[in-house]
Amino acid sequence: MDTRLFKRFHCFKIAAMPATSLDQVVSLSKRRGFVFPGSEIYGGLSNSWDYGPLGVELKNAIQQWWWERFVTKRQDMVGIDAAIMMNPKVWVASGHVANFNDAMVDCKQCKSRYRADHLIEEADPKQKVDGKSPKELTEIIKKMDLACPKCGTKGKFTDARIFNLLFRTNLGSLEADEPAGRSPKGEVRSREVYLRGEIAQAMFVNFKNVLNVTRKRLPFGIASVGKAFRNEITPGNFTFRTLEFDLMEFEYFIREAEWETHFDYFLREQQAWLLEMGFSEDRLRVRQHTKDELSHYSRKTVDVEYKTPFGWKELFGLAYRTDFDLKNHSAQSGADLQYTDPDTNEKFIPHVVEPTFGLSRTTLMVLLETYDEEKLEDGDTRTVLRLHKRLAPVQVAILPLSKKENLTAKAQEIYNKLQKETNLRLDFDVTGSIGKRYRRQDEIGTPTCITVDFGTLGEDEKQGAVDTVTIRDRDTLKQTRISIVELIGRL
Ligand code: GAP
Repeated sequence: MDTRLFKRFHCFKIAAMPATSLDQVVSLSKRRGFVFPGSEIYGGLSNSWDYGPLGVELKNAIQQWWWERFVTKRQDMVGIDAAIMMNPKVWVASGHVANFNDAMVDCKQCKSRYRADHLIEEADPKQKVDGKSPKELTEIIKKMDLACPKCGTKGKFTDARIFNLLFRTNLGSLEADEPAGRSPKGEVRSREVYLRGEIAQAMFVNFKNVLNVTRKRLPFGIASVGKAFRNEITPGNFTFRTLEFDLMEFEYFIREAEWETHFDYFLREQQAWLLEMGFSEDRLRVRQHTKDELSHYSRKTVDVEYKTPFGWKELFGLAYRTDFDLKNHSAQSGADLQYTDPDTNEKFIPHVVEPTFGLSRTTLMVLLETYDEEKLEDGDTRTVLRLHKRLAPVQVAILPLSKKENLTAKAQEIYNKLQKETNLRLDFDVTGSIGKRYRRQDEIGTPTCITVDFGTLGEDEKQGAVDTVTIRDRDTLKQTRISIVELIGRL
């Protein structure tokens, strides 16, 4: 574990207690509209989740920050947005058809299915499972005499067997149950394809296209954001491990001799961004993969892990993929994926360092990290999300003191002005007492509330001077009176 790297950065710090249980965040998410169970009115679909009005704002804000920080503001980075379904040969060349596997076992009693390594690790975290064959995992399970976590039956597991994580689907208009190839009438039948298991492959297969149009010189990166799909055997922990999820990553093309320099640099960049977002360094650590644990394409991988209420878990990854992908795509497709040095004319296949950032996981971990239950002086407890201002789904809430028409009209005027003259995400709330509305905004992490009262209208000097409003700070609870003309500068 090396948290020293984190200590070099001095960033926005939140004095938050993180969530102590996942349930706190699950319940807040449902209650306030961050995340809903997928297809809920039909009884749901296991481990599928939909982002609600606030969740989508939070996820988009994280994504936009990432894109700006790692793509737009860097001269050495460009982006692409690629198709989810690719020619299946891509996944053969990338090694995913042969190697993107987990070992699974079934309980013969209750038919529950488990990832063999997770089953063992959960019973005894010290057991070594990485790189073990299905046969070895079967023996460990037998030796440990494990019980099914669901029904408690012992010794009733099937032997472990390999399961490929790529999702399959069919292209084409004919019924899926017809065999592939051509129908008796000569029509092309459906063709099996995969939903992408990682978004990285599009950056490799577009390497030459991007190089040709951008004329970038090494080192440079190609970035992308989008959905990836994995038929996980044991999804769970809310949105932590799901079958479809959002990823943000880039492939950084380099000369082989420089890989360690770039690797260390991007690890620091990943850590720096986490601190900028407000993560506490005490809940972050870096863990290097053991040799047995490495993905088939990687020579070195580290995970940046976050201390969740369900243990230390991977948040970001960083891999040195060597020239594995470009070399294989070049060999299998016949395309020349070499880079030509413009000064020396030397031709070679670049190596790659790949920083990967789970967007769905970052969204969940931002919620866990910023969740706070604060005891107030009056004995009450308030729930507050201490989100960074850039990430808050609502950045400013405009609250008329009551529903009286002249108050709401004035508040609406202020709302319209802010909407027109700023890019802030705004909310306008008139329902319930002002105290309840403040609590609601605290719960969704709104950094600033603006209250419009009778002082604003010039009808009550005790509340404040005419054309002034109260600004309330989410974290300090401090309320300040400022004039409407100062508002935009202040926000
Ligand atoms: N291209 C490299 C790659 O995909 P990975 O470690 O397999 O690497 C990248 O996945 C990131 O995606 C992880 O660091 C994690 O944040 C996230 N992730 C992986 N599997 C996930 C799942 N089933 N549900 C949600 N997020 C997942």
